[in-house]
Amino acid sequence: MKHCPTFFFLLVFVWTACHAQNILSPAGRLMLSFSLQAGGEPTYRLSFGTKPVIQTSRLGIALRDRPSFDKGFVIAAVDTLTYDETWEPIWGEVRRIRNHYREMAITLEQPVFSHRRMVIRFRLYDDGLGFRYEFPLQQNIDYFTVSDELTQFALTGDHTAFWIPGDYDTNEYAYTTSTLTAIDAAKGRAADEIFAKTPIGRNAVQTPLLLKTADGLYINLHEAALIDYPAMNLTVNQETFVLSSHLVPDAVGNKAYLQTPARTPWRTIIVSNRAEDLLASKVILNLNEPSVIGDAGWIKPQKYVGVWWELHVGKTTWNYSDTSNLKLRDTDWSGVTPNGKHGATTARVKRYIDFAAEHGFRGVLVEGWNVGWEDWFGKWKEEVFDFVTPYPDFDVEELSRYAENKGVKLIMHHETSAAVTNYERRMDDAYRFMKKHGYEAVKTGYVGRIIPRGEHHDGQWMVNHYVRVAEKTAQYRIMVNMHEPVRPTGLHRTYPNWLACEAARGNEFNAWSHGNPPEHETILPFTRLMGGPMDYTPGIFQIRMDYYDPNRNAQVHTTLTKQLALYVTLYSPLQMAADLPENYERFPDAFQFIKDVAVDWDDTKIIAAEPGEYLTIARKAKDKDEWFVGAITDEQPRSSKVRLDFLPPNRWYVATIYADAPDAHWEENPMAYRIHTALANNRTVLEIRLAPGGGTAVSLSPATADDRKKWKEYK
Ligand code: NOJ
Ligand code: CA
Repeated sequence: MKHCPTFFFLLVFVWTACHAQNILSPAGRLMLSFSLQAGGEPTYRLSFGTKPVIQTSRLGIALRDRPSFDKGFVIAAVDTLTYDETWEPIWGEVRRIRNHYREMAITLEQPVFSHRRMVIRFRLYDDGLGFRYEFPLQQNIDYFTVSDELTQFALTGDHTAFWIPGDYDTNEYAYTTSTLTAIDAAKGRAADEIFAKTPIGRNAVQTPLLLKTADGLYINLHEAALIDYPAMNLTVNQETFVLSSHLVPDAVGNKAYLQTPARTPWRTIIVSNRAEDLLASKVILNLNEPSVIGDAGWIKPQKYVGVWWELHVGKTTWNYSDTSNLKLRDTDWSGVTPNGKHGATTARVKRYIDFAAEHGFRGVLVEGWNVGWEDWFGKWKEEVFDFVTPYPDFDVEELSRYAENKGVKLIMHHETSAAVTNYERRMDDAYRFMKKHGYEAVKTGYVGRIIPRGEHHDGQWMVNHYVRVAEKTAQYRIMVNMHEPVRPTGLHRTYPNWLACEAARGNEFNAWSHGNPPEHETILPFTRLMGGPMDYTPGIFQIRMDYYDPNRNAQVHTTLTKQLALYVTLYSPLQMAADLPENYERFPDAFQFIKDVAVDWDDTKIIAAEPGEYLTIARKAKDKDEWFVGAITDEQPRSSKVRLDFLPPNRWYVATIYADAPDAHWEENPMAYRIHTALANNRTVLEIRLAPGGGTAVSLSPATADDRKKWKEYK
C-alpha cells in the first residue's frame, strides 16, 4: 500500500509522457512539448537547451454559459511543418527579416461536448515561441463569449522581473525591478500623475514583461497580432511562480466575443542567454500578417518638430481661452476672451514650419489648433472636439499653403479625450479635412476614461477601434501615431502606416512630474519596444524646467547627449525633435546630430545590452553609407570600448562623437558636452565614457579627400 501513490504518479507520468508531442526549433536551441493531462487538459513546456524555461503549464479558454475549452480533450490531429522565408519590411531596423520556424498545430476534440474542436498552433523559432488558440468553423459552436483565458507560464524560480503594474487603462508607469516574490503593484513607483488608470491588483503586471533568471536567461513574455481580443495582463502566484493570463474585461465583465472561425492573438515567449539577442528578435513581427498596403510609397519614416513641448512646459497653452463650454463649430468669437497664451497661433506655427524647412524636418505637429481644449481634461464628456473647427487664431488655409511652399507637411492632432464614440462618428470628416489641407499624418490621443462608458483602453472594443483607425487612415493614405493606445504587438508589419505609438511612459513625464528615472530608457527596449516603435519624443536640450518657470520643479533625467543617443537606442520610424526651436538654436553643434540621424535602417547591431543598466546600438542608414551609434547608461557612470568592426573594410569615415563632458551628470551638470571629430575605419575602437545618466552619440559618414586632410585618425 505504501508504494501505491508513487506507482499511481508513475502511471500518470508514463501516460502523459506517451502523449507528449515535441518539436525542436530549426537549429535545435529550443524545445516545445505539448501534452494532455489525465483529464484531457492541454499543457505545454518549453526549454532552452537543457534549461527549462516554462514548466508544464496549462492552456485553455473558459467560456461563459457553456462548457469551456479546457478539458476533456483528445488529440484529433497533429500537423507539423517547417517554414523558412525572408521578407522585406516597408521600414524597419533591418532590410531583410528571416522568418524561420517549426510549426506544430494540435487539433483537439471534446468527445463529450459534441466533438467541439479547438486548434492550438505553436510556432517555434530559435529565439522564441508563439502559440495561439484557433476555433475552426464547426457545427456545434459558432458564436461564443470568452469569460477567461487559462494560459499559464509556469516559471522555474523567483526570477528578477522588470515590471509595471497590471492595468486596464494605462501603460504610462515607470518600471520596477524586483524578484517575482517582491512584486507589489500597489507599491509600484508613484503614479499619481497618470489620469485614467485601473490597476488590477497587487500581484498583476503587464506585458511585455522582462524576466532574468539566476542562471542568466533573459525571457520576454508578450503577445503578437492583438486583433479582436483584449490585451493580456499577468497575475503572479508568488509561491509557485506561475503567471496566469488576466484579460482586460469589457463594461459588463466579459472578456471577448468571438465567432468561428476565430483565433486569439499569439502568446509569445522570447528567450536567450544573451540580452543582445533578445533585442534583435523578430519573433513578434514574424508572427504578424504581411502588409495589407500594396503601394506603400506614400508611407514616409520621418523626423518632425512641433508645437508640443512648449505646451508641456507651460510656456503656451492648448486652449485659446479660459472659458469652458465653447460650442463646437461656433463662428462667433466676439464674446470669448483669448487667454493670451495660446500656442497654436498662425504666427507661431509659421516659426516651426520655417525651422523645419531650414533644418530638413518633414513634419510639423500642431497641438491645440482646434476648438474644445477649454473643456477636455478630466470631464467624462462625449462631445468635446469635432476635429474640423480651428481656433480663430489658427488659419488652416494659410498654414497649408505656407507649409506646402516650404516643402513641409503639417501633422494633424486628434486628441479624442477618450470619447471614442464621438471620434468614430467624426473620423471620415476629420480625415477628409486633413486631406483637403495637405496633412499626411495624424497623431491621435486617448487621455481620460473611455466612452462608451465602462470600456477600457485595452479591452476588445478599444483594440478593435485602434485597428479600425489604422485601416481607415490607410484607406485615406494617412500615417498614424497613437498616444494612450493599447501596447503594440507587431501590427505595424500589417499596417505600416501605423508608424508609432506612445503606449508607455514617454519623455513628456519629465516636463511636469517626478519624471522617468535614468534607467528608464535602458529598460524600454526590453519591454515596451519589443511590441513596436515608440513615439518617445527625445531630443530635449533644455534639461531643467525651472528655466521656463522658477516654480517648475521638474527635469529630464538624462544628460543632453543621452537625449541624442536615444535616436539610435529607442527605435522608431517616427522621431520627434521635441524641444523648442529656440533651444536648438542655442546648441547648433549638438543639434547637428538630430539633423543627421536616420530613421530607417538597413542594418542594426546590438553591441552591448543589460536591462536597467546600459545599451549600445549601431545602425546603418537605409540606402546610405552612413552609420550611427548610440550608447546610454542608467545613473551609473560607465566606460566601454566600441569596436567599429561593423564598418566595411578599407574605407575611411568621419566620426563625429557627441559625448558627455568629463564633469557631466544628469542631475548636477546635465548640459555639459564635448564634440570630437576624427577619422575612423573598421579597426577603430572608440573609448566611450558615459556620465551618470549619460549617453554618447556617434555619426559616421564616408570621408572625402578633403576630410582625409582635415581630420586626424581617432586615437
Ligand atoms: C497626452 C499625449 O501623450 C501628449 O503627447 C499630448 O500632448 C497630450 N496628451 C494632449 O493631447
Ligand atoms: Ca501620454
